Amino acid sequence: MFSGVAQRRVFSSCADHVRYTPPMDMTQARWTFLNDYSNDLFGAQDEHLAGLMDEAIEAGLPDIAVSADVGRLLKILTMMTPAPGSTQGRLALELGTLGGYSGIWIARGLGEGGKLITVEYEDLHADFAQQQFEKAGVANQVEIVRGAALDVLPGLRERLGDASLAIAFLDAVKLEYPMYWEHVKPMIAPGGLVIADNIYGAGWNVEDEANEQRIAMDEFCRLVANDSEFETTGVPLRSGLLIGRRKA
Ligand SMILES: C[S@@+](CC[C@H](N)C(=O)[O-])C[C@H]1O[C@@H](n2cnc3c(N)ncnc32)[C@H](O)[C@@H]1O
Repeated sequence: MFSGVAQRRVFSSCADHVRYTPPMDMTQARWTFLNDYSNDLFGAQDEHLAGLMDEAIEAGLPDIAVSADVGRLLKILTMMTPAPGSTQGRLALELGTLGGYSGIWIARGLGEGGKLITVEYEDLHADFAQQQFEKAGVANQVEIVRGAALDVLPGLRERLGDASLAIAFLDAVKLEYPMYWEHVKPMIAPGGLVIADNIYGAGWNVEDEANEQRIAMDEFCRLVANDSEFETTGVPLRSGLLIGRRKA
């Protein structure tokens, strides 16, 4: 590691900075270590959340929830979105509830009067998630909408209105992300966020350029990245998160 003085010397100009290659070449072993390290360091959670996915797997749900460090990121980002006036709290939308794991993190970031609407296609998942929202003490702030995201989104847009969402978390069918964006974009309020999981892989890898899910995800990412109404970046945490903020 560089001392402060050595670092100033190495980074004496922007050009030096660009040429400098940090000793951080990624290997499978380092990636696995890094993910475990990050989750250990930043993934502290209560007993209920820690056991939720084990219980979910026992109940027949797939083991595909976000990790605890990503859950905490969702909570922090939710807390950072602008809270509307005193009579109405933040409104959040999630596509893909599964067992309620990520939903509980988001709900805990909403603050007073906030509400999460989470969309789930499978009744088994929705029933399990409802129990978990109750156990977590957030059921009064969460509504599960059952159905396929693309079927329910037009009705949700009509009901909630444009510019209504503080945060939208996309985590359902990866092939459908570009179509989710069409419906979700107008609903995001100025200063609000769109967050999408699995932008760098989900049973496929980002370098599999011919994979249809990768193609759809790349299309979605480019739609948001090139949208002048949003400021957007990708975070290579776990399977990758897109974070876009509607300019205020
Ligand atoms: C990756 S999981 C969501 C994980 C969850 N966000 C978490 O981290 O705890 C994707 C979920 O989307 C649901 N799903 C599948 N097709 C869907 C659709 N067309 N509309 C809405 N949800 C769907 C699946 O049943 C599954 O529960």
